[in-house]
Amino acid sequence: ADLVRAFVYVILGGGVAAGYAALEFTRKGVSPGELCIISEEPVAPYERPALSKGFLLPESPARLPSFHTCVGANEERLTPKWYKEHGIELVLGTRVKSVDVRRKKLLTATGETISYKILLIATGARALKLEEFGVDGSEAENVCYLRDLADANGLVNVMQSCSSGNAVVIGGGYIGMECAASLAINKINVTLVFPEVHCICLSKSYSFFDEAVARLFTPKIASYYEEYYQSKGVKFVKGTVLTSFEFDSSGKVMAVNLRDGSQLPADLVVVGIGIRPNTSLFEGQLTLEKGGIKVNGKMQTSNDSVYAVGDVAAFPVKLFGETRRLEHVDSARKSAKHAVAAIMEPKKSGEFDYLPFFYSRVFGLSWQFYGDNVGEAVHFGDYSSGTFGAYWISKGHLVGSFLEGGTKEEYEAIAKATSLKPPVEDLAELGQQGLNFALTI
Ligand code: FDA
Ligand code: NAD
Repeated sequence: ADLVRAFVYVILGGGVAAGYAALEFTRKGVSPGELCIISEEPVAPYERPALSKGFLLPESPARLPSFHTCVGANEERLTPKWYKEHGIELVLGTRVKSVDVRRKKLLTATGETISYKILLIATGARALKLEEFGVDGSEAENVCYLRDLADANGLVNVMQSCSSGNAVVIGGGYIGMECAASLAINKINVTLVFPEVHCICLSKSYSFFDEAVARLFTPKIASYYEEYYQSKGVKFVKGTVLTSFEFDSSGKVMAVNLRDGSQLPADLVVVGIGIRPNTSLFEGQLTLEKGGIKVNGKMQTSNDSVYAVGDVAAFPVKLFGETRRLEHVDSARKSAKHAVAAIMEPKKSGEFDYLPFFYSRVFGLSWQFYGDNVGEAVHFGDYSSGTFGAYWISKGHLVGSFLEGGTKEEYEAIAKATSLKPPVEDLAELGQQGLNFALTI
């Protein structure tokens, strides 16, 4: 028989955005039995950023249930018990294999049909594979990607089996930089390989999408972090890419070959070469843009009954007057909250007004960035003191701010200053004023 389970609200995907959406649904008065979350992952939503940081620590590493959402925003921790108490159905370990937005139905890989009145897409993204760049062999047991808990457990296992061995980290983006630091903390010899001139820096040439996001760091900022990493024993091989692996008789990778002809021994390889949003269920059904699902200021897609949030959503960023897709946790949390408010209180809710916010923590370092990294960068502060930053000025206005080693008040000040988009005439003077510019605005 054709068994259909019916819900009013269905969240498709069980990651960061799903957890924050669930909390907001309960705050807006969802009734028991109305909401369901379907996730391919076997666990309730958790704070994904922990996987490249606390999860990889050699001592007292973070483990579930400690980092279930929504602890990352100092909110309640939503354990499986919490969902049960609130009458929210968690359908875990279950992949949705097709969606019919016209008939408002989903089909799961286990053969179940689930219907909805409102669908919230929170499918996030998947890690790009080396095979997609023409390199074979990344299914070897000591080649690790890092997107979900299963990947993180795999990485920890390989890491523990090669103490004081050699790791090659491929990719100079967020995953590459955070994993390289975590591996070094675990006393593994790390070599970081990436095609650009600097880490997390401006490069379009190796990006997957034409309109790919420009990297954040200026050469001056990147140099600071690279020197810091080198002082911790991390080696850099820049301007080249991996072309192939060398395997032993058991199929384990022993070394990586680079385009520049060199070879690096490897007991462990970590690959972080970018992501691709999980949009495939909706191709041909919803409007796509910038590699994601296009939504309006209420996070509503081209179908009235379907909303999209988090990494998969391309939404209008008011501050910049254009549609962007942001791959960061703060955007996932806040877009989820906004979408639920729009769903539950359509008359009260306005347009999403979001100030882009990125951050990272590695070793003892910690930075935050607000806004947009376009226009001219003006560096400030003493780069040898551990507290420094940069402002980005475009068309005569402050549009972006970066700060390393700031206090809570200082981070709040750069966030506020950036949201105000104040005019800036004299760049040299701005550099002189430095943090004071933001603190006194
Ligand atoms: P997310 O990827 O969290 O969740 C998507 C969910 O959908 C997954 O559970 C997936 O299994 C499920 N799913 C997908 N397709 C499905 C289907 N067909 N059927 C069922 N389920 C399906 N950001 C930041 O700002 N600061 C940071 O420090 C970090 N650190 C960090 C570390 C690591 C290791 C990663 C991988 C990522 C980060 N990020 C980050 C990025 C941040 O984690 C990311 O932006 C959010 O997780 C996005 O949340 P979403 O809910 O959109 O996707
Ligand atoms: P990324 O987009 O940050 O960086 C990808 C990097 O891969 C590029 O910088 C480049 O160095 C490299 N690369 C690209 N093509 C390559 C190729 N063919 N060969 C070798 N190297 C190549 O992506 P990521 O580091 O994989 O991160 C994945 C996702 O996780 C992103 O969405 C990121 O925002 C998120 N994340 C964010 C944080 C944070 O915000 N602190 C931390 C971890 C992960």
